[in-house]
Amino acid sequence: MSAKTEALLATLKLQPVVPVLIVEDAASAVPLARALVAGGLRAIEITMRTPAALDAVRAVANEVEGANVGAGTILNARDFDAAVKAGSTFIVSPGVTDGVLAAAKDSSVPLLPGAATASEVMTLRENGYDVMKFFPAEQAGGAAYLKALSSPLAGTLFCPTGGISLRNAKDYLSLPNVVCVGGSWVAPKELVAAGDWAGITKLASEAFALKG
Ligand code: 3PG
Repeated sequence: MSAKTEALLATLKLQPVVPVLIVEDAASAVPLARALVAGGLRAIEITMRTPAALDAVRAVANEVEGANVGAGTILNARDFDAAVKAGSTFIVSPGVTDGVLAAAKDSSVPLLPGAATASEVMTLRENGYDVMKFFPAEQAGGAAYLKALSSPLAGTLFCPTGGISLRNAKDYLSLPNVVCVGGSWVAPKELVAAGDWAGITKLASEAFALKG
């Protein structure tokens, strides 16, 4: 296993749930990340889906002690490089392109690439990847589908994301090929808008307690 994969795995193993954040206002990113870290969730994915996302990564990287901030929804090489420059310590993509794979190869920052089929997993394995995001987890077939991949594609580990919540997280976390899950449920829009950081710390603590 490469040093980059080991670094990625160490990050993903910090906690059973990686919060997936859509940050509308960069000013909320720091208190939001602090609330998640206070609940035990130190690895945090900020998706590149809003104009505030890069500033949010920068602010969390510089100001939130204990946080390990990554960038998600990376769709091309340009976004990969911008996210790394902003301070991301890991990169997440919903799928892959040649451009994203090339950017990852040139970077010291690890990529968690997305896959949803056996062929996509096999292609990523040929590119040297042992750890992937299974996306969109629930919609693609859920825990039963991922379990079915575990025998033929043994040796590949997944972070399933998409449609996961406290209700079904354990279905995934109990699988031998799952290292953690990702989800937005720990940072609901309404709590972020209300600045209810205590409420978010409570959700994060519940998620952290899923650690078996
Ligand atoms: C996403 O990319 O939006 C993530 O997969 C989060 O999905 P969720 O909102 O269903 O947790």
